[in-house]
Amino acid sequence: MLILGIETSCDETAAAIVEGSQAGVKVISSSLATSRELHEKTGGIVPEVAARKQVESIVPVVEDVLKQAGLELNDIDKLAVTTGPGLIGSLVVGVAAAKSLALAVEKPLIPVNHLVGHIYANWVGDNKPEFPAVALVVSGGHTDLVLMKGHGDFVYLGGTLDDAAGEAFDKVARLLGIKKYLGGAELSKVAQACIENKMVGVLPRPKITDLDYDFSFSGLKTAVKRVVDTREFELESLAKEFETAVVDVLVAKTIRAAKEHKVKTLLFGGGVAANTQLRERLKKEAEELDIKIFIPSVNLCTDNAIYIATTAYFNQVERDLGDINPDPSLGIMD
Ligand code: KG4
Ligand code: ZN
Repeated sequence: MLILGIETSCDETAAAIVEGSQAGVKVISSSLATSRELHEKTGGIVPEVAARKQVESIVPVVEDVLKQAGLELNDIDKLAVTTGPGLIGSLVVGVAAAKSLALAVEKPLIPVNHLVGHIYANWVGDNKPEFPAVALVVSGGHTDLVLMKGHGDFVYLGGTLDDAAGEAFDKVARLLGIKKYLGGAELSKVAQACIENKMVGVLPRPKITDLDYDFSFSGLKTAVKRVVDTREFELESLAKEFETAVVDVLVAKTIRAAKEHKVKTLLFGGGVAANTQLRERLKKEAEELDIKIFIPSVNLCTDNAIYIATTAYFNQVERDLGDINPDPSLGIMD
């Protein structure tokens, strides 16, 4: 079955075609346009600017994936689109385009939750994770721990009470003067350049011993600001200490959830899952407990349409076209 996926929840305009079968999901083609450079100039995303760029990019990316695949729109069996969470103007562009395409070729359209999509990046290719599994989704806007009992069958375990992990990375990157907008990956590079962390233990590990599965990262960010205000710090060490504090908490809670729910599978997803220290530490701890961990390749962690089409293959809940509406506040359980 050929599925064309569309993703426009934030500053990317992405399309992808996947082929789903008993063997798994094969990527046929993928295309992505970003308006990131425009937001770097303003030091933060301007939703209207993102949506206008998406209006320009949506037709070219869809044409590109069809051309790469050597297919016509009519050859596609089903379409899929991100309906939320995300920026409303951006979501509207993707949903309107997907509805029009589906209507034109009279094919079904499947709505996809962006956060669930991040988890399904673990099913791309020959991967066949076994249930039950614990999934950690760490993106720019969300930090969620869920128990997955089957396809589309989730139990919410916990999530952030304030800033998301990616948001904390971005705000601290700005505080440290590393980058004004979406500086998580760049902060991580500065941390990797640290040979010896001279600031071990300077920052808190919020909620690490609490017996819930919630997170809190805004106080950690304030703690970084306090250190920055003293002007007595070494940049690489402070970046490393911040990254390690976030990783300590994420790894501790994820492993505890896996133990408590006696799962033998861990799934990982979202832009922050591209972080090297987090990938390595989670992998090491999971393997020590004989838990099979799935970690998508870095380009499948950040936003793309491959995982949107993949989610649609495994959760084929079609809806009437008139019923498919973008919802900026969609949660992982909605
Ligand atoms: O999932 P994603 O591409 O977009 C959202 O759905 O939010 O995640 C983007 C987030 C940003 O906050 C970005 O700074 C962060 O992921 N990120 C990283 C790394 N790469 C991307 N954070 C830490 N280390 C990285 N290597
Ligand atoms: Zn995302």
